[in-house]
Order: sequence, then C-alpha cells, then structure tokens
Amino acid sequence: MFLTKDEERMLAGGKGPAVQKAMRLLVALGDVLGADRLIPIESAQIAGVSYGNIGDAGMELLEDWAEQGARIKVKSTLNPAGMDLERWREMGVDEEYHARQLRIIRAFERMGAEITCTCTPYLVGNAPKRGAHIAWSESSAVGYANSVLGAKTNREGGPSALAAAVTGRTPHYGLHMEENRKPTAVVEVKARIVTTYDFSLLGYTVGRILGSGIPLLIGVPRADSDRLKIMSAALAASGGIAMFRVKGTTPEAGGLKTEGLERLCVDQRELEITRERLSADGEPDLACIGCPHCSAKEMRNLARILKGRRVGRGKGLWIWTSKGIYNLSKREGYVSAIEGAGGKVFTDTCMVVCPLEKSGYKHMVSNSCKAAHYVPSTSGLKASVTDLHNAVNKVLEGQ
Ligand code: F3S
Repeated sequence: MFLTKDEERMLAGGKGPAVQKAMRLLVALGDVLGADRLIPIESAQIAGVSYGNIGDAGMELLEDWAEQGARIKVKSTLNPAGMDLERWREMGVDEEYHARQLRIIRAFERMGAEITCTCTPYLVGNAPKRGAHIAWSESSAVGYANSVLGAKTNREGGPSALAAAVTGRTPHYGLHMEENRKPTAVVEVKARIVTTYDFSLLGYTVGRILGSGIPLLIGVPRADSDRLKIMSAALAASGGIAMFRVKGTTPEAGGLKTEGLERLCVDQRELEITRERLSADGEPDLACIGCPHCSAKEMRNLARILKGRRVGRGKGLWIWTSKGIYNLSKREGYVSAIEGAGGKVFTDTCMVVCPLEKSGYKHMVSNSCKAAHYVPSTSGLKASVTDLHNAVNKVLEGQ
C-alpha cells in the first residue's frame, strides 16, 4: 500500500506511540483488504463504547490509548454507551457497571471524542457532506450515511474507526470506491409500505433474503428520514447490507443501470414471515421505541400519542434518543408529555447495548426489527415487533 511521507513517519513512530499503533492497524487492515492507499476522512463515528459490549479488556485498551497520547484529529462522535450517563440508576444499572462505563467515557473524552453516544450522529451535528469519505462503525448509521447522505464509508469496527479518528485517514477500498457503490440486485416491492414499522419490516426482509450486496428497491413510496433510518438499521441487522438505493428517494437511484442484476420480489407474505420470526408468544410488559434513536419528529409524535393516556401498572414505556434531541424535546415539552404519562426517556444508550435484563421486565415490544432481532440475545428478554401505535398501546392502562 502506498504511504505518503507523513504517513510513513506516523508508522515509524515519529508522531508518538499512539499514532504509530493506529497507523499499524490501518496499514494491516488495508493490506488484507486490498487498499491501494490511505485517504483523508471528514469524520469518524466510533462504536465499542458500551461496557457491556467491550468489558474490562476493551476498557483497559482504550485507557492505554488515551495514556499513550492518542488524540483525535477529525470530528468524531460515539455510539451509544451501556447506560444513560445521568439516569443510570433508574435503568437498574449497578455502581460497579456505572464506574466502569464512566472510565470508558473518560478515556474517549481524553482522546477528544464528542460524548454524543448516539447511533444517529447525523441528527445532532455529525452529518457528512455528500461525497465525503468518513469512517463510521454503527451499522445503521453506515447504511444511512452511504445511502441517504451520499457519504462514503465501510462498516468499520470500533478499533479501526478510532484509528481512523486518530490519524485522520482510512484505507481506500470497498464503499470508498465509486465502482463498488452500484446496485447488485433489484428488489421489486409488492407490499403495502407506509409506516416506519413497514419500512423496518421491509429492510429486515430484504436483508434476510439477500444477505449482502447493494439492493435497489423499486415500488417503495417516497420516504422521510425516520423511515429511511429504521430501514437502514433493519437491513444491517438481518444481512450485512451497508448501502441501499430506493428509486425515487435516495440520490442517483433513478438513473442506475439494472440490466443483468439479480432480481427478487418482496410481497406481503414475506413481510409476515419476518414479523412471525421476530415475535415471541405472550404479552409484552415493556415497549421500547427509538432504534435507531428517536428524532425530534418522533418525540413529538410520541408526545401526541400519549396525550391523556397513562402507562399501566407493572408495564414500562422506554424511549431512547440522543442527548441533543432530548434537550430539544425537553424545550418543546415532548419529554414532560411522555414522562407525565408514565414513560421514561433515556439518552446515551439503547435497549440493545444496556443491561436491559436489570429493568425487571420480561418481554419487550418495539416497532424496530433491529431491536427485536438483538434484544433476546443481549439481555434474555423475549421480543416482539408491531407498529408504533400497537407497541405503545400494549403497555397503556386499560388495554
Ligand atoms: Fe441504535 Fe441501539 Fe438500535 S445503537 S440502531 S438504538 S440497537
């Protein structure tokens, strides 16, 4: 792989041990993946923040990097942590876990990361320009950045995104190259797709059937950013899909060549198979909304749905969002409307990366297929999917 003089200096240790370690990681990765060079990046989004995910070994590794002088060079935001950084007690998180999670946050802080802790950085100030090269690691954000924002990123691991943030560079391969961003399959959608839940079901179904590649979806109504973000998350959860196109919605999708591509059809029956696979028997006692983290519009919608309603005894309604959207929603009165009805709005974390089993609830329902895909394995709760209104209704009084 070709390196500039400056990059060779970094690799030789001329800019300190932390930069050298980061450069070694990127060069090894680039060599394995066939990159011809490193390219500068505009921003990074770093996963591997939850103590529950990375444990003591990951925490100590981050502290070592910070101690060795690793300093972040480009705008860099963090994926959700393993707890709400302020209201962790209300989630059932214990002192030990809290202390370790804070050590992780402090290590990132020392390195210069923005402590955003969200999977929707593009809603709170880390929205790359179209065509920008970036190094992001959260799978739903990667899909959204490539497909909706038109930025270019591979799906980075936590360490490679951090190394990219520290050096300001990433290996040039995969989705950074224009020739690898063309559709590989055409998906004709013959199902009724309206709500965010429909888009989540569709994304999960396409990922389940296709597995990988870049689908071009046709026959899908024009979608807003909330629908596209929930679909990005689902496509990456059931498959390894880091980029998609939707004719009439995403950039360039109208003019793309489709001759010779694999073709498949997704109908209502396929969506029903997905719903069945992601839905356990029994009645949910916890509704979780916000996978990916809620936008301000979704917070407003929840506040409206909950007007004059009340969460039932022994039930929970937990809403997940970023600190930035929380602050805005608080000013607008959405948070007080949700919490006045007995719900809770948590920030900095989510139902998948926090120890949800500590909540005491047994069965989560969500409008997000990604949440229902992961929750049973990450916390042992049962999971189900349904649309937003149904999910919320299941935990309200008198239902
Ligand atoms: Fe975000 Fe957590 Fe879902 S990181 S996409 S809310 S699993």
